[in-house]
Amino acid sequence: MPLSEKNLARAEELIARYPQRRSALLPLLFLLQAEDGYVSPAGVAQVAGLLGLTKAEVGAVATFYTMFRRRPVGKYVVSVCRTLSCQLRGSREIAAALTERLGTPLGGTDPSGMVTVEEVECLAACDGAPVAQVNTENYERLDPDQALALVERLLRDEVPPPTLAAEGAVTEPSSACLHWRLAGLGDPPPELATARHANANDGEGQA
Ligand code: FES
Repeated sequence: MPLSEKNLARAEELIARYPQRRSALLPLLFLLQAEDGYVSPAGVAQVAGLLGLTKAEVGAVATFYTMFRRRPVGKYVVSVCRTLSCQLRGSREIAAALTERLGTPLGGTDPSGMVTVEEVECLAACDGAPVAQVNTENYERLDPDQALALVERLLRDEVPPPTLAAEGAVTEPSSACLHWRLAGLGDPPPELATARHANANDGEGQA
């Protein structure tokens, strides 16, 4: 679905920050994700119209950056690092344990729509290998049992403290809140904290 009337006003607010409308492309794609959980074809067409770009131009950017999703994600996105340090210390086993528990291949979401699991490249916390990230927070030196315990809590809508929880650290309550903040709109509205866009039918293929 494209942006709602309310978020169209937010989009214009974002566009007004730049000397050229097209410069607001990345913030608008994040806003789309905050609303829908992913960048849909209808959303691409709408953003193209708003910015005076072609759908191909918007689509090229949306498919270039891995932080933009092609299908809805769960309330929590668990990203397991698969780069060398983490792989040598067991990240493959963690990913396998999580996909089996969640009943979905990598890139998919569990049937409740709560947790998406994926593999990513280096999370820049190699000294804590193996690392998994939940939305914006790192959980380090995990073994498969600890990773499974983390996911069980996420499925119960509980977020345990990350490994290095600095004072003032922001733990986003949902992937939708994270995308709202990345759009540059500041604190997310309360309703986004409970947003769950994915469902059982979205649990296959790439997130
Ligand atoms: S290799 Fe996994 S965080 Fe760098």
